[in-house]
Amino acid sequence: MKQAPSGSRALCTVSAALEAPQRVMCAGRAVVVWMVEGDRPAVIDDRCPHGNARLSDGYVLYGRIVCPLHMWTFGADGHAQAPGGRMEAAGPMPQAYESWISEDEVWARVDG
Ligand code: FES
Repeated sequence: MKQAPSGSRALCTVSAALEAPQRVMCAGRAVVVWMVEGDRPAVIDDRCPHGNARLSDGYVLYGRIVCPLHMWTFGADGHAQAPGGRMEAAGPMPQAYESWISEDEVWARVDG
């Protein structure tokens, strides 16, 4: 196995992330893990900047995670698309973390 970069951690299995978005506590943060495509994971903060909902309670549509409350969607870069706009009232966008697959697990470098 390749040496993992420092500060990186295994968050969940690929099969779990394919089944549903996964909430993982890591380095004092709550992050959500999902699969953008079959072999491409995404990891961002598990908090919607609109109303603080857990994005991990949402679902994945066309590779984006959908907030369960008002259907804002977020890409792997943490940027939002908001039906009806009004993004100026939102808090800071979720931070996105470098992620990759190694031996059927999703890994990410999440800062403490
Ligand atoms: S709380 Fe997420 S879209 Fe409103």
